[in-house]
Amino acid sequence: MDRRNAMKTAAGVIIGGGAGLFTLTHAFKPVGKSAENPQKLDYKPDESAWKYARLDPIATAGLAYNYYSEGSCMYATVKGVVSQLAEIIGEPFTTFPLHLFKYGHGGVGGYGSVCGTLNGAAALIGLLITDKTVQDKMIADVFRWYEKEPLPAFSPNTPAYDHNPVKSVSNSVLCHASNTNWCKTAGFKVDSKERKERCRRMTADVTMKVTTSLNEIFENAYITSVQTDEAMNTCLTCHGGEGKVNNTAVKMSCNPCHTESVGHQIFADIHYKVME
Ligand code: HEC
Ligand code: HEC
Repeated sequence: MDRRNAMKTAAGVIIGGGAGLFTLTHAFKPVGKSAENPQKLDYKPDESAWKYARLDPIATAGLAYNYYSEGSCMYATVKGVVSQLAEIIGEPFTTFPLHLFKYGHGGVGGYGSVCGTLNGAAALIGLLITDKTVQDKMIADVFRWYEKEPLPAFSPNTPAYDHNPVKSVSNSVLCHASNTNWCKTAGFKVDSKERKERCRRMTADVTMKVTTSLNEIFENAYITSVQTDEAMNTCLTCHGGEGKVNNTAVKMSCNPCHTESVGHQIFADIHYKVME
């Protein structure tokens, strides 16, 4: 029997065992992975041809909102920023293959995986920031914010479709989960014009967020996110890189996909304490 099954079986035996057990488990609780405090992120741009020029986040969001009809969420996010850099800086931005980013719609070609506007924001960070560690931190900040922030918040001057979408917390970076969550909250179908307007505004929101991030990093004023995910930090205490179980490489919010098994709730702490 492997350790996991052992844990489940033991839970079955003891399940009626009474409240004392919970006190016992509590005594074995490992010290939680502490939330990361917001920190100044240092970045020294190197000699990249892909320079950046400060952009107005609100104006950029408005552009992305408008470009949405040309090629959907990911494309609009990238074009919102790159089209302006082409005007200000010129080459190589002028010949940048924007059409490439149409693939990101609907969570990559309609596959329902990573949200397209987030994919676009990450692509922009990848294009303009050369340091991978800095890229990862900035991407995680945008993604975590998207998981936790009630959106859409953007309000266009001239709406493409006259509907004010209610806000929802997506709790997931996945197109499928984010959309379905919103549809349940708002009471509209996933193929409705209302849902499209929601995504169009989300595109503007994320574009505003990533433009602000880019402005800050290039002005040497970037502070890493203050949004933490307590539940996720708890899971990563044991399952993350520094934990003993160390079997996950994931930063997404865990609870949309995993609910803690009963065995897990009762035994994880004790089991964890004694395991090598
Ligand atoms: C106290 C440490 C600890 C914490 C905190 C913890 N786990 Fe676990 N988890 C374990 C151990 C130990 C196992 C058994 C793994 C083994 O022995 O290989 C396990 C197993 C699992 C499994 C597979 C088996 C099962 O019981 O479902 C999943 C999925 C899982 N954990 C997800 C999570 C999630 C999600 C969280 C946060 C809500 C979490 N864990 C928090 C220690 C922990
Ligand atoms: C988008 C859905 C999704 C998210 C979000 C997610 N997981 Fe998973 N996870 C899976 C799937 C699917 C598997 C593989 C199938 C399984 O064993 O349940 C898995 C497997 C695991 C396992 C191994 C389970 C085993 O049977 O050994 C652990 C542990 C785990 N995930 C922990 C986490 C933690 C911790 C987080 C959050 C930091 C997380 N997961 C976020 C979907 C997800």
